[in-house]
Amino acid sequence: MVELTLPKNSKVNRNGKTYAAKDGAENTRTFRVYRYDPSTPDNPSVDTYEVDVSNVSMVLDALIKIKNEMDPTLSFRRSCREGVCGSCAMNINGANTLACTKGMDELGNGDVSVYPLPHQPVVRDLVTDLSKFYEQHAYIEPYLQAKTDDPETEWRQSPEDRAKLDGLYECILCACCSTSCPSYWWNGDKDGKDEYLGPAALLQAYRWLADSRDQLDNERLDKLEDEFKLYRCHTIMNCTQVCPKHLNPAKAISDIKRMMVNRPDKKTPEKQAAE
Ligand code: SF4
Ligand code: SF4
Ligand code: FES
Repeated sequence: MVELTLPKNSKVNRNGKTYAAKDGAENTRTFRVYRYDPSTPDNPSVDTYEVDVSNVSMVLDALIKIKNEMDPTLSFRRSCREGVCGSCAMNINGANTLACTKGMDELGNGDVSVYPLPHQPVVRDLVTDLSKFYEQHAYIEPYLQAKTDDPETEWRQSPEDRAKLDGLYECILCACCSTSCPSYWWNGDKDGKDEYLGPAALLQAYRWLADSRDQLDNERLDKLEDEFKLYRCHTIMNCTQVCPKHLNPAKAISDIKRMMVNRPDKKTPEKQAAE
């Protein structure tokens, strides 16, 4: 089980508000939800909602019900409601996941705790600032790069080579993996210096390294070769355990390490010193 770690600006004041269910509600469930309002000094707190879950199948449905019927100030991101956009990623009962694909029937019988993604700056309530996460994604240059000057060249890919991207291209950049990784909590945000990129960015890095049409393997590996960007993964496996798309970032990271060791054109100390 992934341990619950509070967001960066946290010191929870547990004396939050309590919202009772409507009179007559028979099938209720208690939700304890992290609240952070940047416009008030009393932050953060945990509010309690007794939710009538008679017609609620997913945690996101319960949050929408709270917002529509009990407390319109509750803020959270969501869009597709189908596990496709990645925006409803949050920490539910101590594990990062997507609220829209987390079934109420998967939660056992106790209270349901809902927190923002761990160790990220909170903007408001369950909404975190993922700017650093997206910067790290941009760093790995997530697009096809070839060394040809001929714009008419068609880059074909065999079905076998295409199959090598399965388990990689499906990533929805929800950040569940990176924000559950202890090494990412400690090394993921250091003002650009000695920074670990985290499992999501590294899975995407491998997605392009594994693509038979991309010709920049060596340059891509150069960009990852220092003590921090790649090698701060200690194979703790939280990333793979929580990924709601059932991907395996830890394996992608070990595949990059293997490429790094086996490549003929290794980054030389001279090259490193010239950077
Ligand atoms: S690898 Fe999985 S958990 Fe990580 S960002 Fe992609 S979809 Fe989300
Ligand atoms: S396997 Fe690596 S990336 Fe995944 S949680 Fe562990 S340290 Fe983080
Ligand atoms: S709302 Fe899009 S993944 Fe949950």
